Amino acid sequence: MTAEASGVTGHDKPETRGLPPLCRAFYTALMSTTFQLDTSTSRAHPTPQPMRRLTVPQIQRRKFGGKTEQPLVMLTAYTARQAQLLDAHCDMLLVGDSLGQVVYGLPSTLQVTLDMMIAHGAAVVRGSYHSMVIVDMPFGSYEQSPAQAYASAARVMAETGCAAVKLEGGAAMAETIRFLAQRGIPVMAHVGLTPQAVNALGGYGARGRSQQEHETIVADGQAVQDAGAFAVVIEGVVEPIAVALTRSLEIPTIGIGASAQCDGQVLVTEDMLGMFERVPRFVKRYGTIAEEITAAAELYAKEVRERSFPGADQIYSLD
Ligand code: KIV
Repeated sequence: MTAEASGVTGHDKPETRGLPPLCRAFYTALMSTTFQLDTSTSRAHPTPQPMRRLTVPQIQRRKFGGKTEQPLVMLTAYTARQAQLLDAHCDMLLVGDSLGQVVYGLPSTLQVTLDMMIAHGAAVVRGSYHSMVIVDMPFGSYEQSPAQAYASAARVMAETGCAAVKLEGGAAMAETIRFLAQRGIPVMAHVGLTPQAVNALGGYGARGRSQQEHETIVADGQAVQDAGAFAVVIEGVVEPIAVALTRSLEIPTIGIGASAQCDGQVLVTEDMLGMFERVPRFVKRYGTIAEEITAAAELYAKEVRERSFPGADQIYSLD
């Protein structure tokens, strides 16, 4: 149980005295700390001043007159701690069903369940306070009918506290998107390479090389916008499709393996952190986390085996 310990914020700090009012307000806004009192341990944990989360209309308004001056930043997150670390740098956190492979070692996203998405979605909401959190609808939880999609999405929204859901599919999902959007469930659509359809598509290769496929994907983008999606992920398509859709749609396009001209970008966080040896062509590695984990585990194992861990600093003595 936590309770907010009122009155222990960082206002009126001595270090702000004498500063001009504007600087002081700026400092306070930046440095204010709110403490959460954990009544089970009687410890107060400082947490950043809660900010209002970005909202669906705010995300939509970032595209104005067909342009997005400041591209939208989205990363996947699956755990509370990961969300805490990513939150300040992102506009949106996506609890992607890619967690099937990344977290659970499954062969595809097809085995991911609604319960798994809800557990991870709730953790990510708990770990963030700024980014808008979107939770993927897993395979089999929405395709049957708009009513099935509504029941699943309502559970996701109610049990996680997320602001929106994402579902894969273009024109074929338009009726479902409209049904959800008209009932207060914001939907991010997902067109192009749709991993839940891997068996029908025959693999994870880029889409849209033939004229027919090109036209289908562009029509999919238009259909999901017309149905009321507030944004659309465009995954794994030849660049001209992503550029055409970004220019023609009023809603923001979020690219992955698409184009730098999209209104925003998303990557699977573990991919960009360098967690895996093999990554798709469109991934850029911004870290070398696998090497760091390996080196740390190797050192730990060595120190345990030679009995140099725990050392004097890590044990409790009598005095
Ligand atoms: O599941 C996922 O992580 C996704 C993104 C790659 C867009 O759908």
